[in-house]
Amino acid sequence: AFVLRAELLSFDADPGDDDTPLPGSVRHLADGALWVEHGRIRAVGDYARLAPQLPEGIEIIDHRGKLIMPGFIDSHVHYVQLDIMASFGRQLLDWLNDYTFPEECRFAAREHADAIAEAFLEELLRVGTTSAQVFGSSHPGSIDAFFAASQRRGLRMLAGKVLMDRHAPEALTDDTLGGIRDSERLIADWHGKGRLGYSVTPRFAPTSTRAQLDAAGGLLRSDPSLWLQTHLAENTGEIAWVAELFPESQDYLHVYEQSGLVGPRSTFAHGIHLDDNMRTRLAERGANIAFCPSSNMFLGSGLFDRRAAREAGLGVSVASDIGAGTDLSGLATLKAAYQVGQLRGQALTAWQGFYALTLGNAKALSLEGNIGRLAEGMEADFVVLDTSATPLLARRTARCETLAERLFALMMLGDDRAIAETWANGRCQHRRDEG
Ligand code: GUN
Ligand code: FE
Repeated sequence: AFVLRAELLSFDADPGDDDTPLPGSVRHLADGALWVEHGRIRAVGDYARLAPQLPEGIEIIDHRGKLIMPGFIDSHVHYVQLDIMASFGRQLLDWLNDYTFPEECRFAAREHADAIAEAFLEELLRVGTTSAQVFGSSHPGSIDAFFAASQRRGLRMLAGKVLMDRHAPEALTDDTLGGIRDSERLIADWHGKGRLGYSVTPRFAPTSTRAQLDAAGGLLRSDPSLWLQTHLAENTGEIAWVAELFPESQDYLHVYEQSGLVGPRSTFAHGIHLDDNMRTRLAERGANIAFCPSSNMFLGSGLFDRRAAREAGLGVSVASDIGAGTDLSGLATLKAAYQVGQLRGQALTAWQGFYALTLGNAKALSLEGNIGRLAEGMEADFVVLDTSATPLLARRTARCETLAERLFALMMLGDDRAIAETWANGRCQHRRDEG
């Protein structure tokens, strides 16, 4: 057991979209203590108040001058696309065919999957992300590799093998029910083991037959503790194709509704081209949209209407969506979200941004009982931020008069250098100076 002494910031509730956070939503301790024991948070409080209660001789790690927040969470990311980030010049459907599918074919080899899973987790920890909901390739071995690497580090992760039984290269195409049996085997081996959870993963409507989508819905009915992740209404060409492929469905979302895929543990990436009717139906089922701003700008997909989603009561998580996303970093994702917001006349506050990266994403993924807050009993995943990591950030934050200004500077100017340390499962798993 040990105690970290630092400035602490954590959210207890959604701060709202105004410049001033809603009362009771933000917990900020200028000189705080975070007591960690057996991979969990034993207590949190003002250092002066907690100090007398600490056991004699307990190690105190002095991080005064640094800011500790809960570990960042990424609600939608493809680990198998790490090496095709920054592939030039296509929009969604051509990008899938020209870059993505050929890359995902490489994951037939388990050694390749093991190597990329390791590299991906190293990168995640470098940018302060301790949990994510992750797509593999269609090969079940891609998920064995990812879960094994996550388990070795004690990380809380959700992941699933992609289901695709049409409109993809032969080497990536499942037998309709074979893909479901592979998913069942992965669920039996990994779901609920330690900190791991399985997310049923039909890629998107165009690459699954109705029979496969129905069978994916059957998996979810058989075990309500499973998650679901897929893509929805990202690109206008995609939407037209879905209308052609599923003429019996009223709209894109209806395709998923008809197969029983929309529920409180369902994450739909993008949701750029939705109408209010679809937003309301998603909200009524408790589903969430993963807003992937850097991906949406990179693929030219469009500008997500975050305000309309929130007004409909629809949960919005934030996500990197690499390889279409241009940055794995949560800070960079918030910067992109701010830019998209400005182009829509809905500037994202730093309160809302950091809430989304932590407790907001934890809630969207139904993990708020485990992660997302610095609070007693929560799992000890957190990030130690250095708001004077670079000369520029130091200059800019020196002028900040309020915490809100400092957080905003961090979200606009911070990068992996601002992540001094990343702790997960109660231990330091990345330290900037050690690379
Ligand atoms: N839609 C279907 N597959 C994908 C993918 O891999 N990335 C993105 N951004 N959209 C998709
Ligand atoms: Fe995606």
